[in-house]
Amino acid sequence: MAFSSNGFSMFVLVCLVVISSLSVATCAGNFYQDFDITWGGKRAKIFKAGQLLSLSLDPVSGSGFQSKKAYLFGRIDMQLKLVAGNSAGTVTAYYLSSQGLTHDEIDFEFLGNLSGDPYILHTNVFTQGKGNREQQFYLWFDPTRNFHTYSIIWKPQHIIFLVDNTPIRVFKNAESIGVPFPKSQPMKIYSSLWNADDWATRGGLVKTDWSKAPFTAYYRNFKVTASTSTSASSDSTWQTNELDAHGRRRLRWVQKYFMIYNYCSDLKRFPGGLPPECKRSRFL
Ligand SMILES: *[C@@H]1O[C@H](CO)[C@@H](O)[C@H](O)[C@H]1NC(C)=O
Repeated sequence: MAFSSNGFSMFVLVCLVVISSLSVATCAGNFYQDFDITWGGKRAKIFKAGQLLSLSLDPVSGSGFQSKKAYLFGRIDMQLKLVAGNSAGTVTAYYLSSQGLTHDEIDFEFLGNLSGDPYILHTNVFTQGKGNREQQFYLWFDPTRNFHTYSIIWKPQHIIFLVDNTPIRVFKNAESIGVPFPKSQPMKIYSSLWNADDWATRGGLVKTDWSKAPFTAYYRNFKVTASTSTSASSDSTWQTNELDAHGRRRLRWVQKYFMIYNYCSDLKRFPGGLPPECKRSRFL
């Protein structure tokens, strides 16, 4: 306990120094300070003085956590190491969400698979309670071997999903053509590990192998870069607009080789015409 409270005051100190020296607050997180375990009791654990968190799933229950604070715009980074081995049927959800019927939500969901078969990274954006904006990807690495960084940049102009700093998806603010954009409801960060073998792996064909339970996913290096209210005009890097040429090239590379589903090209699903934002999101 003495050790972890030392770690804690170090963390507070580091954060205070960062906040006072820059106009943008960047705080390397501490799971004890920033999150609450909300589901699954002892299946969720915090280790290493708050530097590492794990969620697990067994036949009785999954587990989950949520941030204590809610955020309105910012860049949020988390490193995850997903359930290894036979993870078929499991889903690790990591997302931002506000509350209520007309909530906004920005989702990453990792759909497990048989050993050696690829995870699917499923993404979605809800605005004013309405989603149906799925894009799915394979990853260009094995997400169970090492930690990788999954980030959301949420600005008034757009939302960018990144994997190891490579943009995989951009959802632009298209309010000018009538598409609601999340800009007024603060969101908390949530994550959970649960059983979804009715749909997750090959559309539900492959079931969870409970003889491999418990299934465990790990989290570390949580970081939030948020604009503080007193310094809205700062020009730090996360606030720069759009993607640069390198970012656009990387996005095209992911979309060309790793995207396996895009609601914007699913004409069958939208017989009355694609959602209006689809025209715009194609090039960026
Ligand atoms: C699992 O592996 C199969 C076979 O390679 C693949 O079709 C599927 O997209 C993979 N991922 C999921 C989550 O089903």
